[in-house]
Parts: sequence; C-alpha cells; structure tokens
Amino acid sequence: MQKTMSSSRFVLFLLLSLAPFSFSHQKDQIQETFHECLSNIQTPNTFFTPNDTNFTQILKSRAINLKFRTPSTPKPDAIFTPLNETHIQTAVICAKKLGIHLRTRSGGHDYEGLSYTAVMGRPFVVIDLSKMQDVNVDLADNSVWAETGATIGQVYYRVAEKSKTVGIPGSICTSLGMGGLVAGGGYGSLLRKYGLLADNVVDARIVNSNGDILDRKSMGEDVFWAIRGGGGGSFGIIISWKLKLVPVPATVTVFDVPKTLEQGATKILYKWQQVASNFDEDLFVRVLISRTSNKTLSTTYQALFLGGTDRLVQIMNTGFPELGLKKEDCFEMSWIESVMHIMEYPKIVPPSVLLERKPSFLNYFKAKSDFVREVIPESGLEGMWKIMLEDESPLMIWNPYGGIMSKIPESSIPFPHRNGVLFKVQYVSAWMDPAMEDKHVSEIRKVYDYMTTYVTKSPREAYVNYRDLDIGMNGKSDDSWGFKYFKDNFHTLRKIKTKFDYSNFFSHEQSIPLID
Ligand SMILES: Cc1cc2nc3c(=O)[nH]c(=O)nc-3n(C[C@H](O)[C@H](O)[C@H](O)COP(=O)(O)OP(=O)(O)OC[C@H]3O[C@@H](n4cnc5c(N)ncnc54)[C@H](O)[C@@H]3O)c2cc1C
Ligand SMILES: *[C@@H]1O[C@H](CO)[C@@H](O)[C@H](O)[C@H]1NC(C)=O
Ligand SMILES: *[C@@H]1O[C@H](CO)[C@@H](O)[C@H](O)[C@H]1NC(C)=O
Ligand SMILES: *[C@@H]1O[C@H](CO)[C@@H](O)[C@H](O)[C@H]1NC(C)=O
Ligand SMILES: *[C@@H]1O[C@H](CO)[C@@H](O)[C@H](O)[C@H]1NC(C)=O
Repeated sequence: MQKTMSSSRFVLFLLLSLAPFSFSHQKDQIQETFHECLSNIQTPNTFFTPNDTNFTQILKSRAINLKFRTPSTPKPDAIFTPLNETHIQTAVICAKKLGIHLRTRSGGHDYEGLSYTAVMGRPFVVIDLSKMQDVNVDLADNSVWAETGATIGQVYYRVAEKSKTVGIPGSICTSLGMGGLVAGGGYGSLLRKYGLLADNVVDARIVNSNGDILDRKSMGEDVFWAIRGGGGGSFGIIISWKLKLVPVPATVTVFDVPKTLEQGATKILYKWQQVASNFDEDLFVRVLISRTSNKTLSTTYQALFLGGTDRLVQIMNTGFPELGLKKEDCFEMSWIESVMHIMEYPKIVPPSVLLERKPSFLNYFKAKSDFVREVIPESGLEGMWKIMLEDESPLMIWNPYGGIMSKIPESSIPFPHRNGVLFKVQYVSAWMDPAMEDKHVSEIRKVYDYMTTYVTKSPREAYVNYRDLDIGMNGKSDDSWGFKYFKDNFHTLRKIKTKFDYSNFFSHEQSIPLID
C-alpha cells in the first residue's frame, strides 16, 4: 500500500512538472491579476508574494509540521490575510473568476500540511485567517461566537475569564485553530461528559464558492450538518462558529500516574481497556505510552475529573484499583488550570499565555489513528511493546470513549466513531533531523500494521483531524479514507458536497469528492 501511494504521488508530480508553461502563466495571473482583483479592498499588508520580505515568515508562522517547511515543499504563490468577512468574500470571488486554487488556513496544524501546501491544484493561494480572531462570550445566552482564526486556547481563556463554572469542550492542545479543529470534530478531556466541539456547535457563518455569506438558516440543515465534522476545506470558508458553553465545577481534579513495564504496565493497561469507557462520565483517564529509557516503556495515566479528590479516589479504587491511585497523586484546581496542566505548562505560568497563540509542538512528525472496539489481550500488548521498543521515538496516546459519546447517534454529525468504541489510538513519531524521515515513517507504519488484528475493520476507522495521506487520496472505493473517517456518513457528505459546491471549488487531496 505504501508503495502504490508513493508511486501515484510520483506520477502526479511528473504530470505537474510536464506543464511548466501553463504553470508560469498561472503564476503571473496569481501575482498580478489576483492582486489587481483584490485591490478594491485597499488594505495594505494583507497580500504577500514570495518576493515580499515577510512572505516566508508568514508562511512559517503557522506551518506546524516541520516536514512541510522544507525547500522542496510546494509553496503558495501568494498568501492573503483577510481582516474581515468582506475580504474573504472578495478573495473567493476573485479566485473563482480567475480559476485560482485556494487553501484555507486557521491554526495550521493539519498533519499533512494541507492548509499551506498542495500536491494537487497547484499553483495555489493560501487564505490565512490568523488576523480574524474575535471571540465573544455571551454568558446570558450560554454561548460564544469565535472567529476561525482564533486558537482554542484563546477561546478557553475568554470563557474562563467570564466565569469559573462554565467551560467549553475543546482539545487537549491549546494552539489549534478553530477552523480546522471544529470542522473535523475536536475532542479534549470533556469528551466523555459533553462530546466533541462539533457536537456543541449551534450556528456558523460560512463563505460559499459564490462568495455569499450564509448562516445556519440560509445554508440549510444539510450543509450545517456536513460542516460539523466533515473535515475542513470541502464546503467553504468558515468565518466563525457559535458554540454552546457547558457547566464545569469550580474545582476539578487531575492526576498523572506513570507505570513502567516493570511496574506491571501490561496488566494495568489490560484492565484500563475494560473500565475506562465505563467510568462515570465525570471521569476521563487517558494513557500516554512512550519510552523512558532504552530498555523500557512507560504508560502514563492522565486524568481529568469533574469533582473533588475524595470522590475521585473512591471511584478509582472501586473500578480500577490496579492503578493504586493515592490522594497525594491528585491535584485540585479550576477548569482553566486543568487545561494548562494537561498541556504541561508550569504552575507559575498564567492562563493569559494562551492569548499568545504559541504552537505547543514544533517537530517533524507523522501520525496515524485507529479505533478499538474489543479489548486487546495481554499477549497483543506484549507484541506491541516489542515493536515499540525497537523504535527511536515511539509514542501512542489512547483516549477513552463511552459516556455521552455512546449515546449520540452515528449520523448525528459526520463524525461516526461512537457507540461501542472503547478508545481511540493515536500513533505519533516525531523527529528533529530531516534526514531521519524515512526511518521514522517506516517505524510508525510498522506499529500500525501490527495493530491491524486488534482494531476496527471494514472500515478500519480513522479520525479525520488526524489527517493521513497513507490511507489514500481522492478515494471513493469501499475501503477508502472516506469510509474510514466517516463510515456511511461519507455517502451523505458526497451528496451535500455535490449540491453545495458542484464545481468542486473547495478541494484538496482528501476533500469530499463529488458524486460522479
Ligand atoms: C500538536 C497537535 C495536537 C493536537 N491535539 C488535538 C486534540 O487535542 N484534539 C483534537 O481533536 N485534535 C487535535 N489535533 C488535530 C487537530 O484537530 C487538526 O490538526 C485540526 O485540523 C487543526 O486545525 P487548524 O485550524 O489548526 O489547522 P489547519 O491546518 O489550519 O486546517 C486544517 C484543515 O481545515 C481546513 N480549514 C482550516 N480553517 C478553515 C476554515 N476556516 N474553513 C474551512 N476549512 C478550514 C484546512 O484547509 C485544512 O484542510 C492536534 C494536532 C496537532 C498538530
Ligand atoms: C472590511 O474592510 C473594508 C476595508 O478594506 C471595508 O470597506 C468593509 O466595509 C469591511 N467590511 C466589514 C464587514 O467590516
Ligand atoms: C513585516 O516584518 C516586519 C519585520 O519583521 C514587521 O515589523 C512588520 O510588522 C511585518 N509586516 C506584516 C504585515 O506582518
Ligand atoms: C520577483 O523577483 C524576481 C527577481 O528576484 C523578479 O524577476 C520578479 O519580476 C519579481 N516578481 C514580482 C511580481 O515582483
Ligand atoms: C540507546 O540505544 C541507542 C541505539 O538504539 C544507542 O545509540 C544509545 O547509546 C543507547 N543509550 C543508552 C543510554 O544506552
């Protein structure tokens, strides 16, 4: 499969490089005609071409995967940074008129860099939304309107600033853009209690391929369904989301308890699989698996509990005594402090640091995902340790499901991984020396291959926000990425896409394909 993938990429590359004439012609069009078309906006410092001194800095500012910052990575021919909704409309109208391919970027965390690089659809222009960051919390309405250029960390901060007893189900990582995060689902430690961010969207504003602005009412319920979890970059440019706020207690409790293989990690993880999705909805216990030395692996149990220490210790010692949780392992704090804690900010750093939008993770990396519906036996875990111990920088993150995730129907929004899922697996391999890419990518694929026996099959489910081009481009077959990400919702997504964006104006390597 890997072989087919790289050879088809190569063919694509050949096809593209055989057309130098039309390329440079289109390049001129972008840098001159597109700019001219935009000029009625009359706003300086919003349009950048590679000749501008700030171009590279702006391009890199939110290109989170260093793998896509290399000289050989296809670069946009221009970056446009709209300051308001009208600017987005103008950009879409101009691009459509001139036949220019667009990519939309909010936080720039796309695992395959699809918001700022492109294999297909070159040359292209990036619409970078990072200057549109307004966040308006309305406690009386129990909601927040957030522009998609804002990070989830900014939204967390603005919500917590207003009240200690409301929160928002978001993500663990705080530098993600609201554009991509919500469009693909978006989970964090409140997942088992309140579901995904996308489950909590109540309205949205979007620019369609005609340059019109639509809200929930004018886009219609089918499009409103599709944009909440169908993945970014397929339907239009989301300007802003309106999200529900959720109650959180003034005091929540966290713990991080590590167990190495020598401390019985295998048996404990075997038990975790059986209990983590059945815990009280107030409790979220995830597991980080990494190597601590050459000889052993460590499993760290990281938890958020929506309550105090006493009840937490009681729940854990009844349902999961194998972990041996003690009172001293637990720390009580406010919800916003728990957001900072899980991101490993030192205690002295104030939450206002979230307003700085700093990316929390800058590496060369490759990641993949799986969903598990049946407990993996101890022998399966032992085989997994063996492979991970051979790897240079193995990391797996297991996130528990259950709770409200089991109660929301699979077709409620496009995100289908619900009832029956015990946990989601994320595989990550990160490195700092670009020459090591092949080694790391082959290591992560090896673990993923090993796990085939233990994870979901037909389709082998995957999380669209953990974008993975290994599982195909432009796929329509029954085992394509479309079914892995969306299961049967993929059919519905394609119908809505065909109706709403019939010219396939918004497209990328894994955007929702039109119906043939
Ligand atoms: C370090 C790290 C930690 C992460 N942690 C979590 C986590 O805790 N929980 C979780 O759920 N996910 C997590 N993710 C995955 C994350 O949800 C996705 O990468 C998400 O797509 C990021 O959104 P973005 O706006 O930052 O990315 P971008 O790269 O800007 O966008 C991602 C995709 O959405 C499209 N898009 C962006 N903005 C818009 C818009 N306004 N309108 C339409 N389309 C748009 C882009 O074109 C692209 O296709 C993590 C990723 C990283 C790199
Ligand atoms: C956006 O800014 C332009 C100036 O570049 C202005 O003419 C327009 O009215 C603004 N639109 C909105 C919605 O604020
Ligand atoms: C361009 O870069 C300079 C120097 O880094 C900076 O002062 C300026 O604000 C930048 N302009 C824009 C539009 O980002
Ligand atoms: C960009 O710079 C190159 C030389 O560095 C020049 O040939 C080209 O005309 C410039 N393009 C624009 C649009 O200014
Ligand atoms: C760990 O193993 C690597 C090779 O995999 C080796 O280069 C390194 O020296 C070892 N480190 C220790 C502390 O044993």
